[in-house]
Amino acid sequence: MQTEASIQDVSGSVVEAGASSPAKTAQRIGVPREVFPGEKRVATVPEAVEKLIKLGFKVAVESGAGDLANCSDDSYRAAGAEIISGAAALWAASDIVFKVRGPTPDEVALMHQGQTLISFIWPAQNPDLMQQLAAKKVTVLAIDALPRTLSRAQKMDALTSMAGVSGYRAVIEAANAFGRFFNGQITAAGKVPPAKVFIAGAGVAGLAAIGTAASLGAIVRANDTRAEVADQVVSLGGEFVKVDYVEEGSGGGGYAKVMSEGFQQAQRAMYAKQAQEVDIIITTALIPGKPAPKLITAEMVQSMKPGSVIVDMAGEQGGNCELTVAGEAVVRHGVTIVGYTDLASRLSKQSSTLYATNLFRLTEELCKTKDGVINVNMEDDAIRGLTVINQGSVTWPPPAPTVAPAPPPAAKPAAAPVVKKAQGHGAASEPMPGSKLAIMFGVAAALFWLIGANAPKEFMSHFTVFVLACFVGYMVVWNVKPALHTPLMSVTNAISSIIAIGALVQISPIAGAVGRPDSLITWVAAAGIVLTAINMFGGFAVTQRMLAMFRK
Ligand code: NAI
Repeated sequence: MQTEASIQDVSGSVVEAGASSPAKTAQRIGVPREVFPGEKRVATVPEAVEKLIKLGFKVAVESGAGDLANCSDDSYRAAGAEIISGAAALWAASDIVFKVRGPTPDEVALMHQGQTLISFIWPAQNPDLMQQLAAKKVTVLAIDALPRTLSRAQKMDALTSMAGVSGYRAVIEAANAFGRFFNGQITAAGKVPPAKVFIAGAGVAGLAAIGTAASLGAIVRANDTRAEVADQVVSLGGEFVKVDYVEEGSGGGGYAKVMSEGFQQAQRAMYAKQAQEVDIIITTALIPGKPAPKLITAEMVQSMKPGSVIVDMAGEQGGNCELTVAGEAVVRHGVTIVGYTDLASRLSKQSSTLYATNLFRLTEELCKTKDGVINVNMEDDAIRGLTVINQGSVTWPPPAPTVAPAPPPAAKPAAAPVVKKAQGHGAASEPMPGSKLAIMFGVAAALFWLIGANAPKEFMSHFTVFVLACFVGYMVVWNVKPALHTPLMSVTNAISSIIAIGALVQISPIAGAVGRPDSLITWVAAAGIVLTAINMFGGFAVTQRMLAMFRK
């Protein structure tokens, strides 16, 4: 009954919205059921509905929209959403529509002027869809067009969250098709060697796959054209396998570039060797806007051991393996080749929850006033990048971002000697010239002599300890890998709580024996002990948790 009334009420409000409603009435976010065959995800989950309502919005969900992601109508209702039966009523009732997949022509027909759509669109690949949407005079925010190099955009980065889920699922699919354990085992029935997994491409999906396969106990190797990911591969428990050819693979903005023929040949030779050695290959190599690079040839498949598995994540872009059939699992030369293009949808609850959080974070950015009305601010770099159609005008592609995403390229080899001299202290890792070092030591020695000659004796002993502590601290921190800086900071935080000893001395019986301590000092010291205890135990607890992340 309540639903019926809501629909009536909703339809009325839409008519008003179309005629540009004067006051700031809360907008309604609508979430239709995904209609793409086999799609199990839903664009929001009950936990996100509650947060959207707190931002001032009304939320309507099509009946059954979350069924395949384990989100029932009742759970949405309990979170405060209205449930609307039928796609037509839902689209008509919504000022803003959240979707996962881009709309079908039937769904575009249901849109009305002034409406805002937020979903995956892939504007470069779907020019017809872009035209249809522009003709409807709607605003479209393509979540796939988010400028990923902006660090504050990470919380909205649905491509990353979906690729992470998919990388995990790729390993699970591989484990399902593989006839053995991943980890090595010694049992009464015999010794089982660990599975060997090779990951091609260590971007978001590749790194997730490396972490998952390593945590299952496999021996994991990985390769990427961008050498800078080698540390990340190692920190997740993998081994980075280099191509025997020197060429920089970074194309800027965190993406790869197309490599030279020489590099590709050397890479093929290395991949051919890996194919013979490993049991599972997971390919995730991608250069945005280009067909997937063909890394695994038919001969390499043929050379793999029978029962081996290839999971080709790039099936939708033509595949990294020559024998992949997009959307299917096929067996070729005794090797199972999985080309599923719906890996994220196969973990529908997880991916829906992450996607819903990404859209909620985006909504927060669109509605800073928290009054349930969005403002598509084209001055904001992140929003500008996402907005591919603004009230019927196509605004894609966006102008180049104003932030400089990539570090400046290294100095040209020919100019190298001159540049090095001119750089001076800017080149931190360059060894210092001997004369400069001698001058610095000379100045430091003169300073120490001056202080030593004039300062009181007690000061000198404290000062010596201080200088030595600075030196030891610098040497320790300098030699720690950047990935371990946060645990290091938390442990030094805990150690710095040695100050507690000072406070303990103040309230100890010894202090009392020397002279009765002031009660104010006692209380301040007691408070100091409590606070430093929090710092100390908290520091060690955080360190413990952070280090656990690096352990298998
Ligand atoms: P990404 O751009 O973060 O990573 C791609 C990686 O491939 C980059 O690190 C790049 O340097 C590397 N690469 C490019 N060319 C290479 C080459 N020739 N050799 C070795 N490495 C190379 O992309 P992301 O988000 O990790 O996605 C990876 C792939 O997975 C994409 O093709 C994407 O479409 C696909 N995907 C598939 C899904 C499915 O259901 N099958 C779901 C999500 C993503």
